Amino acid sequence: MEESLLQKITAFKEEVHKAVVGYDEIIEGLLIALISGGHVLIEGVPGIAKTLLAKSFAQALSLSFSRVQFTPDLVPSDITGTSIFDSKTGRFSFKEGPVFTNVLLADEINRAPPKVQSALLECMQEKRVTVDGNSHPLPEPFFVIATENPIEMEGVYPLPEAQVDRFMFKLIMKYPSRDEEKIMLSKYVSRDIPVVSPVLSSEDLMRIKELVGMVTMVPKVFDYILDIVDATRKDERVMLGASPRASLQIALASKARAMIKGRNYVSPSDVKAIVPHVLRHRIMLKPEAELEGVKVDNLVLELLDKTPIPKLV
Ligand SMILES: Nc1ncnc2c1ncn2[C@@H]1O[C@H](COP(=O)(O)OP(=O)(O)OP(=O)(O)O)[C@@H](O)[C@H]1O
Ligand SMILES: [Mg+2]
Repeated sequence: MEESLLQKITAFKEEVHKAVVGYDEIIEGLLIALISGGHVLIEGVPGIAKTLLAKSFAQALSLSFSRVQFTPDLVPSDITGTSIFDSKTGRFSFKEGPVFTNVLLADEINRAPPKVQSALLECMQEKRVTVDGNSHPLPEPFFVIATENPIEMEGVYPLPEAQVDRFMFKLIMKYPSRDEEKIMLSKYVSRDIPVVSPVLSSEDLMRIKELVGMVTMVPKVFDYILDIVDATRKDERVMLGASPRASLQIALASKARAMIKGRNYVSPSDVKAIVPHVLRHRIMLKPEAELEGVKVDNLVLELLDKTPIPKLV
């Protein structure tokens, strides 16, 4: 493994931490999803630095960033862009919407109507926008961070199962610890507002992806993933278990995690760390189980505890 690249990855995390206190696991999750070509859903209450985190993440990678606040009156073209008629030339020209960026923060995705949500999900999948028969490719990389408020409010449009499945990870942002919050206060009451500078270049990102491609995964680890996924399908509290797409996402993200941890092979610990983020938004409980207070996160941890961990020697 290239020592200097690993050092850069460490420096990258530190750079994001110049602005954002805590949330190590979230920053790592974003990086893993980005390098494995996935997108991320973040759940968190207002005011815990979701915007700051997404923006700092993009800045430390020298990637372009834009943010869209999803609201009930949004229409698909507010996201994708529109054709504008130019009376001088007598022609239509395309005005790019906010999706034409590297990192798009889709804030409160479940406040926009389904048509707008599916327009975004189409962009995520196809990496292009088609308007009036003309196709406009999105920049590369194109990475979506969508946020959701955990408190169900009136007038929200929950994402349908088929659509949440498009997100590689769902990450949960909890309140910071008291110590972290104190550090945040001291950082932001002073006059020098932290500035985040680019640490990883697009060449670095490409090299990281190349190295991820070389990470190996032995059949025992495939079996470990399949055992976990299978357990979600067999559990009697579960109505909808994890899909084969989920298995694949676990495998891909585990490889990326192995690389950023400086290994050239996937260890079961990678799988174990990745699984909760891939499964928490994909498993649906039976109504009875929900009434009994079963929580998907706890169920996944329980299944992980029960699944024998393979020994690689
Ligand atoms: N862990 C943290 N590290 C650094 N700053 C923080 C942290 N938590 C909160 N803040 C500060 O709180 C403010 C709010 O952050 P931000 O706007 O990013 O929150 P948000 O989660 O996007 O909120 P909203 O849901 O309302 O959009 C920022 O000024 C930020 O500096
Ligand atoms: Mg915000």
